[in-house]
Amino acid sequence: MKLVIVKDYNELGKITGDFILEKVKQNPNVILGLATGSSPITTYEYIIEKTKENNIDWSGVKTFNLDEYVGLTPDHEQSYRYFMEKQLFEHINIKKENTHVPNGLWKTNEEAAQYDEEIKKAGGIDLQLLGIGQNGHIGFNEPGASFDSITSIVDLTKTTIEANSRFFEKVSDVPTKAVSMGLKSIMNSKEIILIASGANKTEAIKHLIKGEIGTEWPCTVLQNHPNVTVIVDQEAAKEAISAANK
Ligand code: F6R
Repeated sequence: MKLVIVKDYNELGKITGDFILEKVKQNPNVILGLATGSSPITTYEYIIEKTKENNIDWSGVKTFNLDEYVGLTPDHEQSYRYFMEKQLFEHINIKKENTHVPNGLWKTNEEAAQYDEEIKKAGGIDLQLLGIGQNGHIGFNEPGASFDSITSIVDLTKTTIEANSRFFEKVSDVPTKAVSMGLKSIMNSKEIILIASGANKTEAIKHLIKGEIGTEWPCTVLQNHPNVTVIVDQEAAKEAISAANK
């Protein structure tokens, strides 16, 4: 696992954005796995800016997002499909049919599992971008999730619901379930970058890098992946650094 420590959230966006843009330049048909939430916002802003500046062509790129809230339609303002449209897709020349976000209206795990089949059919994810929850979740694979899990309907923990309530009017509006790529689906990606910013992620980052591998901290599964780059700002890196110095 490679660790890159950057100054702050803005620099995180630049470094991660360049990392992703480099892949698009190297392979115009690259398949990207994408994340939502606060962590990738500066990255997407930077990608949009550079795409405009340098006329970067996204017409051959395919994307698969990690997750979606159960019960939210794609046009719901808090849905992850809506987030992706507003934060990235509307601003670049990616083809709508090449972008995939799990459907919040899927009712069964059989329907959800088709998402892995679609990814496989496309050729597999070349580069997966991940954020991380305070409890170490990746995608919405909460503590206890099996390392063998594929895309399915999952329950969100109280911590995640509370953390994500900042985007909703009230906590009770936050969906309690999501469709999420599983840990195995994520591990199937050829390459992974995980990004984090801020002091509230520092414990999760410590576990990600130094923790014992186990389902209590789902992020630790990434220690078993051969090609992971972790890009975090100084605040998020603090505990990992002090653990390394002990
Ligand atoms: C989002 C996702 C989640 C977030 C995580 C961190 O698609 O899969 O795992 O990456 O909850 O969220 P933020 O970045 O909002 O702190």
